[in-house]
Amino acid sequence: MDEHRTLWWDEASSVLCFIDQTALPGEVRFVRCDSVERLVDAIRRLEIRGAPALGVAGAYGVVLAAKARRDASGRDQEELQRRFQEEVDRLELARPTAVNLSWGVRRVLSRLEASGDPAAAFESALREAHAIARKDGEICERIGDHGAALIPDGSTVMTHCNAGALACTRWGTALGVVRSAVRQGKLVKVIACETRPLLQGSRLTAWELVRDRIDVSVVPDSSAAFLMRRGEVDLVIVGADRITRGAVFNKIGTYMHAVCARHHHIPFYVAAPHSTFDRTGKEADVVIERRPAEEISWSGSRRVVPEGAGVINYAFDATPLNLVDALITEDGVIRPPFAHLSGCYDDDPYARR
Ligand code: MRU
Repeated sequence: MDEHRTLWWDEASSVLCFIDQTALPGEVRFVRCDSVERLVDAIRRLEIRGAPALGVAGAYGVVLAAKARRDASGRDQEELQRRFQEEVDRLELARPTAVNLSWGVRRVLSRLEASGDPAAAFESALREAHAIARKDGEICERIGDHGAALIPDGSTVMTHCNAGALACTRWGTALGVVRSAVRQGKLVKVIACETRPLLQGSRLTAWELVRDRIDVSVVPDSSAAFLMRRGEVDLVIVGADRITRGAVFNKIGTYMHAVCARHHHIPFYVAAPHSTFDRTGKEADVVIERRPAEEISWSGSRRVVPEGAGVINYAFDATPLNLVDALITEDGVIRPPFAHLSGCYDDDPYARR
């Protein structure tokens, strides 16, 4: 297996395979998923997570729905079509904030054979999902190579959440930049913020970097400002779940890091593919996912918030673009005032195939 591959289609048995990210770092558990129902559950539970990975999962989810429709052919066509549409709708809404999920779903839907033949529709869906998955890895490497130019040799990079291979199909966006810099021979140290409450930084980012023998230290999220003040951080790079014309939506805590970085004159960079750009959405219209209270009030089997106390558990926040020093995309580095941003929205790399 490709060392950094985290999500792929198994041709022999026509199932979607992925690493269950909830089991890391203790166990590397592979899941074979053969239904949309199971996939929606995996997305909601964060077995699959991270914006580009959700885009690829959404694409293969439509393939699973098309497979179910093909295998059931012969039955009432209207009923099958209704069930197909229901599955696709549930998939698209499984998580609301990362735009990539609905992007991947719609991308594949738009390529389905118009003929109405379920077998042909399955084949078209599979071709398109494969193209999206293959491109994802290539795009991440391009993001990495462009972004590596922003990392001076000997830097310490702070990151938040996990924007690595696990959040994509391989290589990663923010961690892709680190990987590319290391591949170029630069010495890079990473500070991974643990990312409360689900610990994507300590469980996933640190796991990936340890596996790659890249120097990584995990810190509590609350120590970020202090480390910046002490001069222990040279730059911050994060990924994104959605970039509108005004703001970057990413894991809760990202905004706090951006404010602190600006205060300490530390560059704050966002690495993301064009599929993360939201062409039409306004910041106020973006649904920020709120996760269950139990993610905060329990630590394993121990209650850590008294009964009767409320819990506010937003999974993402919005960082105004004026706090971002550069956006790193597959086509290069965009600097403020982001005059080229409109170009990003108009330019769809998948259309160039
Ligand atoms: O809730 P998660 O773990 O899906 O949140 C993921 C993030 O916020 C990532 O930073 C983002 O998706 C970018 S991944 C390249």
